[in-house]
Amino acid sequence: MTYPKPSREQFPNDFIWGVATSSFQIEGAHQADGKGPSIWDTFCDQKGKIADGSNGHAACEHYHRWQEDVELIAGLGVNAYRFSMSWPRVQPDGRGEWNEAGFAFYERLIDALNAQGVALHLTLNHWDLPQALQDEGGWANRKICGHFTRYATEVARRFGSRLASICTHNEPWVIAVLGYEQGIFAPGIQSRAQAMQAMHHLLLSHGMALQAMRALGLSTPMGIVLNLSPIYPASESPEDIAKAKLDDGLILRLYMDALYRATYPQDVIHHLAEDAPVVHDGDMATIAQSLDFLGVNYYTRNFSSCGNPWDVASTGNQVTDMGWEVYPQGLTELLCRLHQDYQPKVLMVTENGAAFKDEYKEGVIDDESRLAYVREHIAATRAAIEQGVPVCGYFAWSLLDNFEWASGYAKRFGLVHVDFETQKRTLKNSAIWYQHFLSEKSRGSN
Ligand code: FCB
Repeated sequence: MTYPKPSREQFPNDFIWGVATSSFQIEGAHQADGKGPSIWDTFCDQKGKIADGSNGHAACEHYHRWQEDVELIAGLGVNAYRFSMSWPRVQPDGRGEWNEAGFAFYERLIDALNAQGVALHLTLNHWDLPQALQDEGGWANRKICGHFTRYATEVARRFGSRLASICTHNEPWVIAVLGYEQGIFAPGIQSRAQAMQAMHHLLLSHGMALQAMRALGLSTPMGIVLNLSPIYPASESPEDIAKAKLDDGLILRLYMDALYRATYPQDVIHHLAEDAPVVHDGDMATIAQSLDFLGVNYYTRNFSSCGNPWDVASTGNQVTDMGWEVYPQGLTELLCRLHQDYQPKVLMVTENGAAFKDEYKEGVIDDESRLAYVREHIAATRAAIEQGVPVCGYFAWSLLDNFEWASGYAKRFGLVHVDFETQKRTLKNSAIWYQHFLSEKSRGSN
């Protein structure tokens, strides 16, 4: 199934159109101006953790090239930019002194983009936790909730009125499960019990931070960003159907039920048995603060199987360089389901994009597959809105090719190509399409 080509006119005038990045993936300057080490700096130093042996020391050098990048963002014609703050850049050890030089960097960036009419959507935690906090257990230690709340409050106090939204955490599932259970992301721990405790503390710190930031009297919309996708059983067997339900519980319901119903789903807690998190009285009510928006990061759908590993090729659909199936309908389906089951006030597609191998030919990067991916997912977002789902924005991941975590620099998600030797930025055809789409007024002419 393909969707009709979208046009900007089909969306409300105040629809948020953006591009997204995160601090560790683009900033570089890992020791500049008093920045402390993050868990990703430490993780990259461990042999074999990053596919190409790379690290975030330079990344896209955004810390030094931010002015050029501001021009790039504004030049795309987007009205919004989603970015994250590096906690160890502004508070090197996560619990002590503030680093004014770090804050000054974000202040310059925020002011420059606001001056260009680009609204800023800030994420407080896009994974680069101060290493000093990891040394005392990181997200698995309940004490971190207080540290995170203090950091969030300070950032909101300084910048809140200049931000279009504040998101506490990016993808708590990824932090907890890939970081503490599978150990393939920082901090590289392999313990399901710690992972579930980390999950609980991420959600608890989110609720505590929201309460504290709101107590400042700010009207800035506040929320959280989850990585979500529809999950299907790989076959009609009762085992696969049960597995799909459980996986949906572990990935979606655990987070959504906590945030919107102040409870963890009983089937999942039962399944986790002794690995279920320790929950104190009052925690669930703290977690379930009312959210001004729910951010959804969507890349693909998933299949659950009890037997042989499920093979993505069996779908017959195109597969990205990450090995992820291209399935735009999954986004429509997901948005409709979230609306139906949980009624978030508004939803925002906070990340969506694709890694493909790019060919740079005489200054042109004809990334047809990425272009089609973005176009189809914008259309899929439109289809959800038509079905009555309150979606207020779409952010393409990502502005730039960047450090793709454990995959290093080999996987390119950027609408803008980065030559990591020279740091030259070049708009790919997908960026040019997005620019054109955003400037287009007449229906159907994209
Ligand atoms: C998401 C992350 C983002 C990026 C994309 C591809 O899980 O939030 O930083 O790596 O995946």
